[in-house]
Amino acid sequence: MKVDILLGLQWGDEGKGKVVDVLTPRYDMVARFQGGPNAGHTLEFDGRKVVLRSIPSGVFQGNINIVGNGVVLDPVLFAGEARELLETGSDLKSILKISKKAHLILPTHRLLDAAGEKAKGKDKIGTTGKGIGPTYTDKTSRNGLRLGDVLEPDFDKRFNAAVERHLTMLARLDATPDKAVLDELTARWLEAVAFIRSNFEIIDSEHYVNKALAAGKTMLCEGAQGTMLDVDFGSYPFVTSSNTISAGACTGLGIAPNKINDVYGIFKAYCTRVGSGPFPTELFDETGAEIRRIGHEFGAVTGRERRCGWIDLVALRYAIMINGVTKLIMMKSDVLDGFPTIKACTAYEIDGVQTPDFPYSIDDTDRIRPIYTELPGWTTDLTKATSEADFPKEFKDYIAFLERELGVPVCIVSVGPDRKQTIELKK
Ligand code: GDP
Ligand code: IMO
Ligand code: MG
Repeated sequence: MKVDILLGLQWGDEGKGKVVDVLTPRYDMVARFQGGPNAGHTLEFDGRKVVLRSIPSGVFQGNINIVGNGVVLDPVLFAGEARELLETGSDLKSILKISKKAHLILPTHRLLDAAGEKAKGKDKIGTTGKGIGPTYTDKTSRNGLRLGDVLEPDFDKRFNAAVERHLTMLARLDATPDKAVLDELTARWLEAVAFIRSNFEIIDSEHYVNKALAAGKTMLCEGAQGTMLDVDFGSYPFVTSSNTISAGACTGLGIAPNKINDVYGIFKAYCTRVGSGPFPTELFDETGAEIRRIGHEFGAVTGRERRCGWIDLVALRYAIMINGVTKLIMMKSDVLDGFPTIKACTAYEIDGVQTPDFPYSIDDTDRIRPIYTELPGWTTDLTKATSEADFPKEFKDYIAFLERELGVPVCIVSVGPDRKQTIELKK
């Protein structure tokens, strides 16, 4: 029995999509367990670049891919993404299966997301605007619609009732949509639902997965967002609305904790964040701008500039603890090529007192002073490296330093966006 999980340890965009694609041939199945089209997972191979939002990143290797019950699905965005892949000759219809229990994002959820953000004013979260918060809110308040519901005879009635409820909420926020606009959005949404029904298998994924595991199949669970965006353990309230942590794979797929084997924790050699919220090691200077430029740190979903900073080992240690990470994967190492010095935050000083532990809140960034260790940089072009033998001494020292500080081995290092620019370390 083998279930491994791969998830982000920072604020998302660590490079999950790339590595899931690389690891896929080692498993029978790949499954997304939470989040929705707020995710943007980028894959590059054979001169092609693809950004996936709702579809798992294992669809290019012929394996079975599953959209789990913990995912929230926007039929319009999903159908658009699926159509694009089908046009390029993908065998998506035969390999992709979707959970009946995945919750549906309605057009009015997106309107509520936008209206909610507007009402928050300067305190807005900076969401991706995809209706994620309102959809998970409906799920936990037991008002949601699930994909399996579209197969029921009273679906139209339930859909209309949900829309009416949302319109009442929108009116309270002074955000009543134009009727013609809403009618158009609804028509497109229903068309997309029909497309999904007629082209994809909508299944009891918890039964499917557990039967496959019992028959000796293996599965890689793909996380979206990152641990610092987890609704319980992230930098609340500047988080997403799902459990992005390893426990989320159990609830988001219906697999028991004792089935989990390895937890791959993935992080960038530095740190980024998109949207609002605290970020203790954020750089506002030329170095931050340089990292953004070299790392092309612009959001895959919204195109927004990603905020950049040095690696934060206080937050990483916390993420490793919460997730039970057994193997680390370091991404975008090449982006640090040429920096004379690299900094790593090893502790926070809060109100003058040093602590290695991640605190209850990091909201008041003025009170938190990151304590840095400086390490020498390297001048080698890491994008050309094909094995550990090509690593300069300073880079090897950086990896060894991180392993000492974090207490978990780094097993894979990524040195460029392409599938091939991935180096497995011999341990
Ligand atoms: P995800 O959301 O975790 O899947 O990550 P994103 O796709 O949002 O962001 C990662 C970005 O970095 C994408 O543009 C990738 O193509 C790119 N990328 C991934 N690994 C590397 C790497 O090792 N080096 C460089 N330079 N880019 C990388
Ligand atoms: P991937 O899977 C980076 C951020 C948003 C915002 C907050 C809440 O590509 O790593 P939401 O729309 O979820 O209500 O927004 O979370 N966010 C992400 N940041 N990568 C992501 O996904 C993200 N998904 C959401 O910017 O700050
Ligand atoms: Mg992303």
